[in-house]
Amino acid sequence: MNVVICLGGSVVASPKINKEYIKEFSSLIKKFLSIGYRFIIVVGGGDIAREYINIARELSNDETLCDKVGIMVTRMNAMLLISALKGYAYEDVITDTKGLKFEDKVKILGGTVPGQTTDSVAAEAARESRADLLIYVTNVDGIYDKDPQIYKDARLIKRMKFEDLVNYSIREHKAGIRGVIDYKAAMIIKENRIKTIFLNGKDIKNIEKALLGEEVGTLIS
Ligand code: UTP
Repeated sequence: MNVVICLGGSVVASPKINKEYIKEFSSLIKKFLSIGYRFIIVVGGGDIAREYINIARELSNDETLCDKVGIMVTRMNAMLLISALKGYAYEDVITDTKGLKFEDKVKILGGTVPGQTTDSVAAEAARESRADLLIYVTNVDGIYDKDPQIYKDARLIKRMKFEDLVNYSIREHKAGIRGVIDYKAAMIIKENRIKTIFLNGKDIKNIEKALLGEEVGTLIS
């Protein structure tokens, strides 16, 4: 099975770099590589990126420059995953999704171009490589009918149609923005009907479940 994973900065780089998590996650990847899975992984920036972006914004007041700063941080985080997967992954961060293909060695990306988040990089990667599955690893259990941080009665949506994902997406881009998924990524998933799961990756077992085809998080299909 060929899988694209978008490893959210909320899990690996918030509030600081989560070294133990990177170790645990890379062990899981190695385990699944040994049984024939292949991976492309896109790493996010998290609070670390937001700290850099906020300073860049104060210094420059230039959103494109802030995005470029964010991209650099995602690539730094990507290098840490490459370090943990030494021997199993290409040793340079891949900087473009065009023509991306699955190979036995893991391919690792961060951000690519300004004006989006790594959500879009992962969706593009899944489209280009014709992935069987796209997984968004976040720090919440999946997609809720309303913001669970504000509403106590928010309900987790277990299954959602491709068409509906767009309603939960964020249309306006600003460097360091937070949200379920950006609009561009939601459109790519919808138009290419990419089977996608949003899950809470803080518990690594949830990622394992998704890889094994067990029910977890929110499935978009
Ligand atoms: P992230 O994808 O990490 O943003 O990229 P995020 O939405 O904050 O997600 P978490 O926190 O990782 O879960 C960090 C920032 O880098 C820039 C954007 O400014 C983004 O907010 N970026 C990233 C780009 O401009 N282009 C990209 O392709 C990726």
